[in-house]
Amino acid sequence: MKLILIGAPGAGKGTQAEKLIEKLGIPSISTGNILREHLAKGTELGEKARGYMESGALVPDDLIVDMLKARLSKPDCEKGYILDGYPRTVRQAEALCGMGAGIDRVVSIETDDEAIIRRMSGRRVCRDCGASYHLLYNKPEKDGVCSKCGGPLYQRDDDKEETVRARLSVFHQQTEPVKAYYEKEGILLRIDGMAEIPVVTKRIFDALGLSE
Ligand code: AP5
Repeated sequence: MKLILIGAPGAGKGTQAEKLIEKLGIPSISTGNILREHLAKGTELGEKARGYMESGALVPDDLIVDMLKARLSKPDCEKGYILDGYPRTVRQAEALCGMGAGIDRVVSIETDDEAIIRRMSGRRVCRDCGASYHLLYNKPEKDGVCSKCGGPLYQRDDDKEETVRARLSVFHQQTEPVKAYYEKEGILLRIDGMAEIPVVTKRIFDALGLSE
């Protein structure tokens, strides 16, 4: 199965991708996590991406498309994958089609902007594996420690309110048209993301015809 998760920043793409990984046994590829690894290692790509990410803008398509192509060529993608945070522009969607990806379904997690802004202040992310938690809605077993890998949890720099608002505006302008692109192909599933995490998971599984 090849799936795409689309949604506003903080819609729950990473959270729901983790549930789908467990169910489907295929990797989730988050372009945001790959970029943050490049930032942490101080690579040339990381340095080129830094300014865009800090301001909440999108990293230019050419950089992202090459990065994704390299990731999809790895052997763990042979049986399928979940794309979390790609494509974010119609050009990226066209490039994915040009790679012969053959996407099965696109799950759009639909949310409300003001709720997202409240939600983001409580997010904590694992520095080692990228797993996402929330101080109220999705607590780790031990404060400050990733329940999956034991890595340290931190608050992302781009989760402050001003930057979240910029990211939401970028989402509406540049990523909403991607939904129309896949709607035309007849593979877009719209899921109401304004509910507790397990409820949203059930909605996604039901829409994909998966048992829990
Ligand atoms: P990226 O890392 O992809 O960020 P994003 O898309 O803005 O998404 P987030 O990771 O913020 O949110 P999410 O939907 O995964 O939510 P989560 O599950 O964590 O991108 C960062 C930057 O990298 C971009 O701004 C851009 O600069 C660059 N970039 C990345 N990809 C790019 C691309 N393709 N092209 C160009 N540039 C790119 O949930 C959020 C919080 O809410 C968590 O705390 C979670 O526990 C909680 N939560 C989740 N669901 C619920 C729920 N139902 N109820 C209550 N709380 C919930």
